[in-house]
Amino acid sequence: MKKNCENITFRRITRHNYRQIINLKVKPYQKYLIASNAVSMADAYFYKEAWMRAVYSAETPVGFVMLADNSLKFKFIKHFKPRLYIWRFMIADNYQNQGFGRKAMELIIQHVKSKFGADELITYTLPQNKDALEFYRNLGFKPTGRKLAIGDLELQLKLK
Ligand SMILES: CC(C)(COP(=O)(O)OP(=O)(O)OC[C@H]1O[C@@H](n2cnc3c(N)ncnc32)[C@H](O)[C@@H]1OP(=O)(O)O)[C@@H](O)C(=O)NCCC(=O)NCCS
Repeated sequence: MKKNCENITFRRITRHNYRQIINLKVKPYQKYLIASNAVSMADAYFYKEAWMRAVYSAETPVGFVMLADNSLKFKFIKHFKPRLYIWRFMIADNYQNQGFGRKAMELIIQHVKSKFGADELITYTLPQNKDALEFYRNLGFKPTGRKLAIGDLELQLKLK
């Protein structure tokens, strides 16, 4: 069932909402395929390139996104060529298959186009994560043929 996804926004994660975001869970079989939001937040604490936001539908948190944006890490270097990819992305179990993921990804694409003028968006997913592979395929991402040492497949969306 598709819901009205027009009111999807990204919000900063603060001491006021971080527990709600940690409590967002994917489907039981999906949890072995991705990092938990708690682990992602810990990663964001240690990696300067992390840009994370909660995904909200109106006032309800429904998901989590984290980009790796190396311009945050090297922000003092002028004319640095930005490189960014989707590091983590999830929509909570109760909110899946309602169009929230697509809408949130459209906002991410707008963000990377307007902020970076990026000509591609990269993401990674395990080959056994069929939901993610279908989701990204639906949005136009294509496998590049490369994969990470830990087995994740690299997917690319051309933006230009
Ligand atoms: C992958 C994920 C983000 C999809 O989010 P979602 O909100 O359920 O996706 P949507 O409802 O917006 O679906 C968008 C499109 O993808 C398709 N899609 C989504 N999940 C699908 C699945 N399991 N099988 C086939 N198609 C699927 C939908 O049919 C839809 O197509 P349409 O817009 O042309 O109708 C969600 O399943 C999830 O959080 N999974 C666990 C975390 C994860 O694997 N993250 C990605 C890797 S890091």
